[in-house]
Amino acid sequence: VSDSATQFCSAGREYDVSSCGVSSTRILIKGGTVVNAHHQELADVYVEDGIIVAVQPNIKVGDEVTVLDATGKFVMPGGIDPHTHLAMEFMGTETIDDFFSGQAAALAGGTTMHIDFVIPINGNMVAGFEAYENKSRNSCMDYGFHVAVTKWDEGVSRDMEILVKEKGINSFKFFLAYKGSLMVTDDLLLEGLKTCKSLGALAMVHAENGDAVFEGQKRMIELGITGPEGHALSRPPVLEGEATARAIRLARFVNTPLYVVHVMSADAMDEIAKARKSGQKVIGEPVVSGLILDDHWLWDPDFTIASKYVMSPPIRPVGHGKALQDALSTGILQLVGTDHCTFNSTQKALGLDDFRKIPNGVNGLEERMHLIWDTMVGSGQISATDYVRITSTECARIFNIYPRKGAILVGSDADIIILNPNSSHEISSKSHHSRSDTNVYEGRRGKGKVEVTIAGGRIVWENEELKVVLGSGKYIEMPPFSYLFDGIEKSDAKYLSSLQAPVKRAKSQAT
Ligand code: URP
Ligand code: ZN
Ligand code: ZN
Ligand code: ZN
Repeated sequence: VSDSATQFCSAGREYDVSSCGVSSTRILIKGGTVVNAHHQELADVYVEDGIIVAVQPNIKVGDEVTVLDATGKFVMPGGIDPHTHLAMEFMGTETIDDFFSGQAAALAGGTTMHIDFVIPINGNMVAGFEAYENKSRNSCMDYGFHVAVTKWDEGVSRDMEILVKEKGINSFKFFLAYKGSLMVTDDLLLEGLKTCKSLGALAMVHAENGDAVFEGQKRMIELGITGPEGHALSRPPVLEGEATARAIRLARFVNTPLYVVHVMSADAMDEIAKARKSGQKVIGEPVVSGLILDDHWLWDPDFTIASKYVMSPPIRPVGHGKALQDALSTGILQLVGTDHCTFNSTQKALGLDDFRKIPNGVNGLEERMHLIWDTMVGSGQISATDYVRITSTECARIFNIYPRKGAILVGSDADIIILNPNSSHEISSKSHHSRSDTNVYEGRRGKGKVEVTIAGGRIVWENEELKVVLGSGKYIEMPPFSYLFDGIEKSDAKYLSSLQAPVKRAKSQAT
């Protein structure tokens, strides 16, 4: 029984929120096309107590089961967003979406799990983790965490070990930008890469050269350019390419896998392509804004419009987005995130006189599934199976939670969407579920509509209505040593044996 209470999200829309258990945990989805990353088939899907218990044609059930008709529609794993920032303190303010409004938005858009970034408190990662445990306590969808590394000492490597072995963390993010706040130097990155490797944790980088960005910003201010366009001009693609290449080379030197977050430029993508071609394990994550938008918005004379597009690395000129889409469709880049990090227009106005003070970040958590469907499947660039791979399955594999997540298989969690390819969606800040008063995709319409979202075996989005249950979202522990670590010991051994001859020679020359 639910003790339903109506709550408002700040955009003024009402939806049903309950704080204790809801029944109706038996659901049959009938007659749809079930899509997994490598296969699609006409089948029914039967769910009981949060788990998928059957996937096959013509499943018969009793009257007590809720039946959803998916004829002519796609039944797919709920989206997993690898990159969000909810309730994040950043650039003198805090993101307007917390775990409640951000997750509600996600569910309304067909995303059923997200991975957020824990920011350490004064460099203390365990304290940061505990703070994020509190922020996420009432979650209504499943979530996991990456943890940022912002300083280095013995305590930090010990904390990384605690987080991996006791707290379900298997990834750490290193910011090569944001000089003076989150940025780390190469010596720290090197220590971090070594520790990640020893723990089986994935190293992630925000790849921009922070020192050069600082210099670029100074140049713009000296030229009298203080508006949002100065943001893009101060940190051009070459600085993203440089940092991506540097991080890739250091990861190769350490021989550990690397994950490049928010790949925004062809420059960075080219470095990833080159490394992958040479056999290096590098994952590239474009985000929806980088795939779909271009930088002309930053030149809009209306500050409220231009400032909403300020994020880092910046949204690039026309051409980069298409190059990233092509790379995603051919497997050079592997999965799509959002970097959902929202600030409303009053918060963005902190940088009215100086683009360096505009809080960096854009929305996307609610829009990602629709925009990728419309742009990439709708155009024929990728198949429905590819769509599932880049929006869900590959994320689950990389963060080692497949096939519990990212699949419609017997035994997987019942995180499922029903998408109608013949229906259409429209995006607006007037109807979205984020608390932000703006939306970078304002006015966009497209084909494809997530009509039903099932999270943890509950129907949470149907008939344009959200029914979320506070506290029903689970923290998903992510174990170390994903498939990306397979074979590393062998390649280390090969490297060591290749050193035997030169070491011998060097020693003989020394005597
Ligand atoms: O502008 C951005 N990307 N804001 C969020 C922080 C980050 O760098 O991911
Ligand atoms: Zn970043
Ligand atoms: Zn444009
Ligand atoms: Zn981010």
